[in-house]
Amino acid sequence: TAVITIAQTAGFCFGVQRAVDTAFAQAKKPEKTCTLGEIIHNPQIVESLQEQGIKTIETIEQAPPGSTVIIRSHGVPKKVYEQLAASGHKVIDATCPFVRKIHLTVEKYSKDHTILIAGDISHPEVEGIAGFCQGSYLVFPCADQLDSLINKQMLPEDCPYILVAQTTFSTVEWKKCVEKLKKVCTNLKIFDTICIATEKRQQEAMELAAKSDAMIVIGGKHSSNTAKLASLCGGLCDTFSIERPQEVYDLDLMGYTNIGVTAGASTPACIIKEVHKTMSEILKDQDELSFEEMLDQS
Ligand code: F3S
Repeated sequence: TAVITIAQTAGFCFGVQRAVDTAFAQAKKPEKTCTLGEIIHNPQIVESLQEQGIKTIETIEQAPPGSTVIIRSHGVPKKVYEQLAASGHKVIDATCPFVRKIHLTVEKYSKDHTILIAGDISHPEVEGIAGFCQGSYLVFPCADQLDSLINKQMLPEDCPYILVAQTTFSTVEWKKCVEKLKKVCTNLKIFDTICIATEKRQQEAMELAAKSDAMIVIGGKHSSNTAKLASLCGGLCDTFSIERPQEVYDLDLMGYTNIGVTAGASTPACIIKEVHKTMSEILKDQDELSFEEMLDQS
């Protein structure tokens, strides 16, 4: 019989779980509630919340009068907090505490420091961080882009700088950026704000893949962290990427004895459980079939 092992870090990180739990807890209350932006990039979760009366809004103006607005784990710029306060809506702030800490750091220092943000400028988390900078700031998505800012002389040597990172920034790129900046900036304070949840998930996936003869990676087809998990596992054993539990039926798991399962950051625990249940049923059927075949042959 095949052994199925689920990675402990599969699926939601602490901050996302907290935001999703907040939204579902709110759904049980009578007050009208909406989330500012999708609580998570998972259509099943967004739909399920919608069915329970929690709708997604893109702008504060779309919030029904008297409703409560949930801020998701990515956080929002300071001006959005101000707009929400002015709108009179009750606010539930589900910003991940690790992201909130970055807001407070940049806000504290930005009066007299230039803030350097290692991250993707179009990502809502980075928009939120930038939105707490009171003075100048620069955003760069990788060490190469930082190089071009340095070459364009956009970082005068003796200015005071604060360096922070988007929580999901690559640790490899981060090290390169730190090295470069240390050479150029003489007055630089570094805050390593990368969250280890993603790294831990990748590390555990690789350890599990190394012990398994097949890995199932669950997550959205367009999810970059899921694709990364699949590519890391793919280097160590046969790896199958799926989005939905039903897709397990299309996989040929015959002959595998140790199968590991992990999931990307936006995969809810119920989907992981369902995949496990479906796999157990298929593998049990296969076992029974091969036992019957054995009996037939004897
Ligand atoms: Fe998740 Fe918060 Fe880290 S949202 S990835 S626990 S910064």
